[in-house]
Amino acid sequence: MTFDRSKMRNLEFYYSLILLLFIIHSSCSTSTDAPLDSYFIACGSSNNITHLHRTFVPDSQQPSVTFDSEHSDIINSSRTFSPIYQSARTFSTSASYNFDMNHKGWHFVRLYFYPLSKTLASASFSVVAGSYVLLDRFSFNTSKHNSTYLFKEFVIYVSTDILILTFVPFRDSDVAFANAIEVVSIPDKIFSFGHTLSFPKLKDTALETMYRLNMGGHSLVPSQNSTLFRVWEEDDKYLQPNPLASNISGNPFSIKSSSNDFVSSEVAPADVYATAKALKNILSKSNLTWVFPASPNFKYILRMHFCDIISKSRNSLFFNVYVNSEVVMKNLNLSAFTYDIGVPYVIDYVTNNTSEEDSDNLSVTVEAGGLEQGLNAILNGLEILKMSNDVRNLDGLSSVDDIFSKSDRNIPRVALIISSCGMAALLLFACVIYYFYGRIRAGKSNITLSNNEGRLRIFTFEEIQKATNNFDKSYHVGNGGFGKVFMGQLKDGTMIATKKANPQSNQGIAEFQNEIKFLSKLRHQNLVSLLGYCYEDNQMVLVYAYMVNGSLDDLLYGKNVVVPLSWRQRLEICIGAATGLHYLHTGTGGCQSIIHRDVKAANILLDENLVAKVSDFGISRSGPSSDKSHVTTVVKGSFGYLDPEYFRTQRLTEKSDVYSFGIVLLEVLCGRPALNRALPVEAKNLANWALRKVENDESSLEEIIDARLIGDAKRESVKKVWEVAKMCLEGKRIKRPTMGYVMSGLQDALHLHLHTEALASY
Ligand SMILES: *[C@@H]1O[C@H](CO)[C@@H](O)[C@H](O)[C@H]1NC(C)=O
Ligand SMILES: *[C@@H]1O[C@H](CO)[C@@H](O)[C@H](O)[C@H]1NC(C)=O
Ligand SMILES: *[C@@H]1O[C@H](CO)[C@@H](O)[C@H](O)[C@H]1NC(C)=O
Repeated sequence: MTFDRSKMRNLEFYYSLILLLFIIHSSCSTSTDAPLDSYFIACGSSNNITHLHRTFVPDSQQPSVTFDSEHSDIINSSRTFSPIYQSARTFSTSASYNFDMNHKGWHFVRLYFYPLSKTLASASFSVVAGSYVLLDRFSFNTSKHNSTYLFKEFVIYVSTDILILTFVPFRDSDVAFANAIEVVSIPDKIFSFGHTLSFPKLKDTALETMYRLNMGGHSLVPSQNSTLFRVWEEDDKYLQPNPLASNISGNPFSIKSSSNDFVSSEVAPADVYATAKALKNILSKSNLTWVFPASPNFKYILRMHFCDIISKSRNSLFFNVYVNSEVVMKNLNLSAFTYDIGVPYVIDYVTNNTSEEDSDNLSVTVEAGGLEQGLNAILNGLEILKMSNDVRNLDGLSSVDDIFSKSDRNIPRVALIISSCGMAALLLFACVIYYFYGRIRAGKSNITLSNNEGRLRIFTFEEIQKATNNFDKSYHVGNGGFGKVFMGQLKDGTMIATKKANPQSNQGIAEFQNEIKFLSKLRHQNLVSLLGYCYEDNQMVLVYAYMVNGSLDDLLYGKNVVVPLSWRQRLEICIGAATGLHYLHTGTGGCQSIIHRDVKAANILLDENLVAKVSDFGISRSGPSSDKSHVTTVVKGSFGYLDPEYFRTQRLTEKSDVYSFGIVLLEVLCGRPALNRALPVEAKNLANWALRKVENDESSLEEIIDARLIGDAKRESVKKVWEVAKMCLEGKRIKRPTMGYVMSGLQDALHLHLHTEALASY
């Protein structure tokens, strides 16, 4: 069988996009919340075994684990180094352990193997968990693995009520075995990879922990109070020799917590953040590189843990991060994200192995940045997780079906698994019936909608439920003007974003209709495209093309910032959004002009190529007819972005959008939101703050510009954008430019940035 690379490439497309950053809330207290599922099974043992602060119970005595004992045997030996390996259960035909699951979500599945006899050492067997192959015809005698025992940790998303772990002997003469099994649920916040961007698919991926390192510190084994029982190793054996490398350690109790608690302290213990590898004081470029054996046929998730424990103040450490010599972060300034030193920060990255340079190694490099003020680099912790391939295998190329069909004897087992799926299907069917019955009783509402454009597709509610896993909360990606936004995937694979109106709200209904009214007429590459809608009984859902990169506000200052946008990317996004608005205002394409009325960073969405798409037409209005200069209307819009003249006079013109767009330009320049209530009064409102700071002295632009643009943005280009923004923010609308003018001003700024090498950058 050959490895299907074309399929891999498809996956590559998906995964190369995941690159999430988390600011972690870390505190030194160890959480003692018990996991919802925790099973510690000593296979074939007759008594409890204590191993690293947990108690393993004999498999024959664990009531919530059912286990198929036919053709099984027990083997014991006291001559092993650890009691956990002293007993084993062997299976001469495939057999399963079934674990009742309380938690739908990620679980650690840990397996312990030690061949207690020659037969076991030569046995070849596979292990299947749910629909994933964890071990594919593994044998101690033939494996490259050179230890006498085998401990494996997997991370699996379980969405069923039972996790079935099946041990499958390869040939008739083989046996399968296990010494101990551990299944522990993981709090959602630890593995929230799927939370951002487009990765419901990650839940269809099993992971295997390959490395978990505590840089610069001692290995950490599970302590009394740890609930997840993770082991952190020392890093030195993977570090490339470098005389400048040094171990740094601080006080774990001084690791601060971030106010931004997207991820909890359980992501990694404070001890991991309190130690690091860094460079000795240096005056030239140098780097720290760790190299790990890895398989070229698999992708890996790398979770890098950072915490600046070497700087005395903010903005004094800048460094570059590479994986396999590919840039992950350039000039990473941790304090720009954490707002302080000593605060943990995590970057998740998925390797993007190009098939030409298949390599048996994976490398991670941190390199001292190019700025004099902080010539150093740091890494506190690193986790490397292997991802299952297309056939859901972590170890080879067989699918679960291949493994079960290898031997005829195994068919009864297959039948058993299928029948348990059958039960689930029956249950689901019952739920669907119940649901529909409920819907029919709920009655019909009486709003009518004219679908004046045949090209909008009408979706059934069922279709949308399927696509969004019934509006599963892990598919929730944001909140639109009138409802929650969920991502989803249609049967044909198309990724969609759906916006569901609250049928109880009249406002919701009006905005739903407004959005259809405008978007069905408009088509422009810088406007979000409406694919269709669903309008059934009282369910109203709009369906859009999914924008993988989310909204501009998230990318500028969101909690899960993808690599900070470069100045060039920011300019290109602004030009795109300005072009979209220009199209609306000028009524190109035969339409009357349209005033968006809710221009803000959150309404500028970005596709996979970071092309800007203006969205949310819920409160848009047709512009004034040719004989009038304005429309008089109730003031609507978002605080922080509202045109003050419109606010005073209730007279709406296109220039109100121009004002709001000026605020967006400031957000792009400064990397902060239009309104930040957490800041002192004088800094709360971005426009007031920035205009006062810079006033007549453009050299003070440096003080307000986003720190992450330092070293990237050209001064002249920034100045140009500032000038355009200032014009947009003129108090009197007649002094504000048109969107057409804004567009060309931004194009000039891009030109200045790209084509004037000699200009200084910040
Ligand atoms: C750890 O567990 C022990 C015993 O269960 C308890 O006395 C101690 O307070 C715990 N420590 C922390 C930091 O939670
Ligand atoms: C870091 O500390 C470990 C012991 O904890 C030691 O083996 C290693 O050599 C040290 N590495 C450096 C670069 O000093
Ligand atoms: C790290 O330093 C080594 C030795 O100076 C160099 O060969 C290598 O290219 C550097 N790696 C990166 C990613 O800069």
